Amino acid sequence: MKIAISGASGKTGYRIAEEALKVGLDIRLLVRTNSQIPDNLSNLEKAIISLTDKTSLDKGIEGCDALIIATGAKPSIDLTGPARVDAFGVQNQVESAKRVGAKRLILVSSLCAGRWFHPLNLFGLILVWKRIGEKHLETSNLDWTVIRPGGLNEREDDLANEAVLFTGPDIQEEAYIPRRLLAKCCIEALNTPSSIGKILEITSNTENSTLTMKEAIKRLTVKEAN
Ligand SMILES: NC(=O)c1ccc[n+]([C@@H]2O[C@H](COP(=O)([O-])OP(=O)(O)OC[C@H]3O[C@@H](n4cnc5c(N)ncnc54)[C@H](OP(=O)(O)O)[C@@H]3O)[C@@H](O)[C@H]2O)c1
Repeated sequence: MKIAISGASGKTGYRIAEEALKVGLDIRLLVRTNSQIPDNLSNLEKAIISLTDKTSLDKGIEGCDALIIATGAKPSIDLTGPARVDAFGVQNQVESAKRVGAKRLILVSSLCAGRWFHPLNLFGLILVWKRIGEKHLETSNLDWTVIRPGGLNEREDDLANEAVLFTGPDIQEEAYIPRRLLAKCCIEALNTPSSIGKILEITSNTENSTLTMKEAIKRLTVKEAN
């Protein structure tokens, strides 16, 4: 399977690339002209994209079976970032995937996507725009999965003892997850057909028992049915 990873220069994106390499996936990094990529990924195939340029997106995704979207507006005084990147930027990536036949899409979104009243919305209504981005994906007819992580951190130690708590949409409100575990979840979703058509919220802790994504989804489905 060949996968394209957008936002691959970001703190989550480069970890997704590392996790993809660990399981032997063929990958293409979608980055901007001035994006900085860690040295260990510098030899990988790259495509320069602009989220507003359909041709560059089509070229970047063409030939890939899947796209993992890890782009996200960076906090800035430019409050239009969330609309441009998290809504229309996602929409343009989804439309491009449709045009070039990449059937599997994983979107990194955020816990509380869709909320109007939340302190994070001080940055350009980011949670509202993120939900609009999600909706474009959900109505795309592609094999999509939305992953909504809690607050992200850079922790890399002791992750073997940390369990990911998976829930359906609009259940979790806070708590954190290391970007490394989020990256692993994105790759796990690629190999978990039952994650297709689902919004999964994820945080992590050392109290829960470790479940695979497949097991967690099975439990969620049983719970929903009861
Ligand atoms: N931070 C949190 O606690 C948190 C919590 C929940 C969800 N999230 C979401 O998780 C995702 C990953 O977050 P992160 O903090 O790991 O990411 P990050 O380090 O801020 O990286 C963002 C990535 O998006 C790219 N990007 C931004 N604007 C772009 C544009 N206009 N065109 C093309 N690429 C663009 C950046 O490219 P350059 O390197 O070229 O700038 C970078 O690769 C984001 O969607 C974020 O909103 C974050």
